[in-house]
Parts: sequence; C-alpha cells; structure tokens
Amino acid sequence: MPAPTTATDQAIADAAAHLRAGRLVAFPTETVYGLGADATNSEAVAQIFAAKGRPRFNPLIVHVHDAAQAAEYVTFTPLAHRLADAFWPGPLTLVLDQRGPSSLSDLVTGGLTSVAVRAPDHPIARALLAATARPLAAPSANRSGRISPTQAAHVAADFPGHEPAMILDGGPTAHGLESTIVDARSDLPILLRPGAVPVETIAAALGVSVLRTEADAQRPNAPGQLTSHYAPRAAVRLNATDVQPGEALLAFGPDVPAGVGDMINLSPSGNLTEAAVNLFAALRMLDAGGARTIAVMPVPDTGLGEAINDRLHRAAAPRPADSTLD
Ligand code: TXA
Ligand code: MG
Repeated sequence: MPAPTTATDQAIADAAAHLRAGRLVAFPTETVYGLGADATNSEAVAQIFAAKGRPRFNPLIVHVHDAAQAAEYVTFTPLAHRLADAFWPGPLTLVLDQRGPSSLSDLVTGGLTSVAVRAPDHPIARALLAATARPLAAPSANRSGRISPTQAAHVAADFPGHEPAMILDGGPTAHGLESTIVDARSDLPILLRPGAVPVETIAAALGVSVLRTEADAQRPNAPGQLTSHYAPRAAVRLNATDVQPGEALLAFGPDVPAGVGDMINLSPSGNLTEAAVNLFAALRMLDAGGARTIAVMPVPDTGLGEAINDRLHRAAAPRPADSTLD
C-alpha cells in the first residue's frame, strides 16, 4: 500500500514534477481527495481511467488555479462569470463549452463538446496547481463506483497494483462531499450533481432559480452519475427506523433506536454540515466492520441534505451484475 506523504513544500514540488512527467498524484481538495493527471497529456489521463477502472465515456473535471486559467480552455458565459466570482475558489464545478482548438486531452471530455472546470479551495491543491502550471484532470481518488476518499489513508487502500506516484496527505477534507456541478452554458444554472454548495446557496447568491433536469439513470446528464455509485461492499437499506439482526446502523440526529451494536452517528445534533463531513468515512468504517447490511436513518432533504441523500441513494442502488465495484 503506498504511504501518504506529508505535503511539505518539497513534497509539493516533487508531486508537480511527477505530474509534469505524466504520472498520477493523489491530492487533497476541500471536498474529497482527487487522483490528478496533467489534463493536456493523454497518456497520463489514460492512467486515471486504468487506475480507477473507470468507463472511458465518463468525463473528468479539469482543476484550475483560477478563472483566468479556466478561460484558456472554456468559454465563460455571463452566468459563469457570476458563479465563479461568487464561489471560486471553492466546491462548485462549471460545465462550459470547450474552446477549440484546445490542448486538453480528448479523454478528459469523453468526446463531449463541454468541459467541467473547477478551482479548488485547498492550500495544497492550489500550491500543486501553481507548481505544476498545467490544468489537472482529477476525479475522486477511489476505484470507480466505490466510496469517495475524504482521508489520505482511504486513497492508499483503494489502488493495489495501480498506485499513484504520490499521495499528498492534507488530513481529513473540510466538506466531505464532492463539488456541486452546474451547467452554466445558458442564462440559468442547471444542476447536474448536488454537492458541497447547496442549491439554495447558489440561488440566493445570484438571485436566480437553479433549474433541475429529470433524473434519468440510463442517460445521466453528468455521465458519471450512474445510478450505483459510492457503494460499500455491504447492502444499504434507507429510511431505517429500526435495526435488524446483522445490520450496522448509520444514524442521524438524537433519536437513535436503542440497543444497536455497530453504529456511527453522522451528527448526534442533526447538523447537516457535520453529517456531510462524516458520511464517506462512516460508510467505509461500517463496511470494514463486516455487516451484511448498513441501515441508514432518514436525513432531511434540504440544504446539504440533498447531496447527502443523493450519495445515500446511489450507495443503496442495485449494483450491476458484472460489477467492477469489487
Ligand atoms: O469535488 C469534486 O468534484 C471532486 C474533487 C476531486 O474535485 N471530483 C470529482 O470527480 O468528484 P468525479 O470524476 O468523481 O466526478 C465528476 C463528475 C462525473 O459525474 C462526470 O460525469 C461529471 O463530473 N462531468 C465531467 N465532465 C462533465 C461534462 N462535460 N458534462 C457533464 N458532466 C461532467
Ligand atoms: Mg467520484
């Protein structure tokens, strides 16, 4: 198992050299850990798909230092400028039209004419982007379909045989959930993936409504939003109000059923921000405990609860028979 490296200035310089040489580096962002590659180098980007076992049609988010760097690769609409001004650097990803001809690898976009871009708000990610001076393609640093990593140790556990050249350790991530993805190509934002910035926050900041598309598992709008995702090995049972024999409990709030053995409470006080931070690590821990099923108490669907419930529904979804999820 590759050991995470403390993210000293020297380690960041070494990581940037690996990236510029076409190798993979895992690094912390404020949402989850990313598995980064130089987005202009197809051989490097191909290694991301191999390491994750990720379908090639599922495009990657391009991480940039700031909006000026993003504008080298995508066309900013007036809406995109407003969103970037309000939320960058931060956990909001913008889907925009690619500017052609572009130096981005075609593998990054999976053949789409759009590109997803985001400027992360994490000192290590920003230092790495500055030192590398390349756009970095970086999906969450987990095997495809599995639980996203919020700690360096999660990344280290996930890639036997396909180790990144380095895993930069920045401790547990601040938000615990991936970025919110918004299509910003027209006048109104369209939500493609709920995430660390609640929809209500975007609507309030811009004074506009955020449109939603019909969820369609067969033709997802964000192509990676396949139904089964974030899957632990255990089965997942939602909206649990009791616990059956052999089940572990993922609890939320103060009213927990009595007499539960294996239990983690996402937030005893019922705080959604705290629950988001704890969600993925809690799923991994309950899974490691060996329960056949993880029963999950209901979580309110407002604010960050929308993104938490999105992840929980995908964790509970039927898994493909020819699963790459093992
Ligand atoms: O917080 C995050 O966004 C993390 C950190 C590492 O930045 N990254 C992340 O990447 O969650 P990933 O690959 O796990 O999820 C990216 C999602 C996928 O669902 C993918 O289909 C979607 O973004 N996506 C990428 N490019 C797109 C595009 N051009 N149009 C629509 N969706 C896109
Ligand atoms: Mg992911």
